[in-house]
Amino acid sequence: MKAIEISQGIYRVGVNIREKDYLFEGLWPIPDGVAINAYFVKGDKVALIDSWCTTEEYCPVGVVDLEQHPGSYERILASVGITPDMVSHVVVNHMEPDHSGWLGHFFKDHPHVQLICTAKTVPMLRDFYGITENIRTVKTGDSLDLGGGKELVFYEAPNVHWPETMVTFEKNSGTLFSCDAFGSYGAVEEDAIYDTDMTPGKLDFYERETLRYYANIVATFSQPVLNALSALGGLPIKMIAPAHGLIWKGDIGRVVGMYKRLADYAKNGGEKKICLMWSSMYGNTGVAIDTVREALKESGIPFSEHRIPESPTGMVLADAWESKGYIIAMPTYEYKMFPPMAHLISDLKLKHMFHKKVLRLGSFGWAGGAEKDFQANIEGMHWDCLPSVEWAGSPTKETLQTLKDSVKKLAASL
Ligand code: FEO
Repeated sequence: MKAIEISQGIYRVGVNIREKDYLFEGLWPIPDGVAINAYFVKGDKVALIDSWCTTEEYCPVGVVDLEQHPGSYERILASVGITPDMVSHVVVNHMEPDHSGWLGHFFKDHPHVQLICTAKTVPMLRDFYGITENIRTVKTGDSLDLGGGKELVFYEAPNVHWPETMVTFEKNSGTLFSCDAFGSYGAVEEDAIYDTDMTPGKLDFYERETLRYYANIVATFSQPVLNALSALGGLPIKMIAPAHGLIWKGDIGRVVGMYKRLADYAKNGGEKKICLMWSSMYGNTGVAIDTVREALKESGIPFSEHRIPESPTGMVLADAWESKGYIIAMPTYEYKMFPPMAHLISDLKLKHMFHKKVLRLGSFGWAGGAEKDFQANIEGMHWDCLPSVEWAGSPTKETLQTLKDSVKKLAASL
């Protein structure tokens, strides 16, 4: 880990979580890791913007752990000519512990440093870390002059991602420190931290990881994202420095446009794609999936496919977020939906996967029940459902033909 100057007097200090099988937020698979970025802004005084998590078990970023690696903080500062007493402020854009877990230990040793945050952060600092002193609360438009040509201006961005969230803009360099906003999964190598360092293929990778991050973490808060994009729209931004993923300086419009597109899916349902999510117990629903695939291919519509529960929810949500069409296949299980699919549908509801066009299908043994349970559980999601295709036991030729027609009808409706 090292400090990298991204603009005169502004340094990124990023760490990667790469542990195999680690689940971000204790929930989401990140097979390609995730970067956690913090930034030092050096004027006459120095501000640290955001920080890191540290506990090895829950957020294994290693070297910034002040207890396990004493002296690491001082060594990083020294590498760019900063002494610890020059650091006068820590800006807490966001309290989620991936960006704040480090604070409790830090403030025991550096009580002179003033903490800058929104009013909603104050009780969280007390409850998470016992910090109650030397806190300045700020609102949109408030600023901090660090001297030496560095001035920070703060903008509240509630619910992007938690209610206390804000972003920080360094006026003279035009750098927006956006915390979770514009962030992505995917570890970042220290010799390739900018969008301008990427090949087209690597940019596509980080865009996919942005989609996954958005669908897992931010999707529920799409309206607040649109509010924030609108509020920040007039700023002369030259560089976006998020707390996860790449720094954007070559084509800022690309990541801003992508974020707007992702947030708009909450209202318009997404792209003309179909996400096929299916479960089967003994193959009597599964056998119909061949027919579904065949109809989708004949329709020419792009589609993704996930077998539930085999496919991790974190992966399913990315395809589900960007697809306007859903095909949901499951058997009836004890008069209800197949339990893993019921759980997935509750996650789709939690993440506001609304305004979809949907076809449901599946088999039952002695009586149905999945349909009634399904309809009760999707209430309020604004799903436009075609008539479900259900059958007892194994599907007949006639049932499969009905199914094929329904899939084509769904594809044509998008
Ligand atoms: Fe990266 Fe909401 O924390």
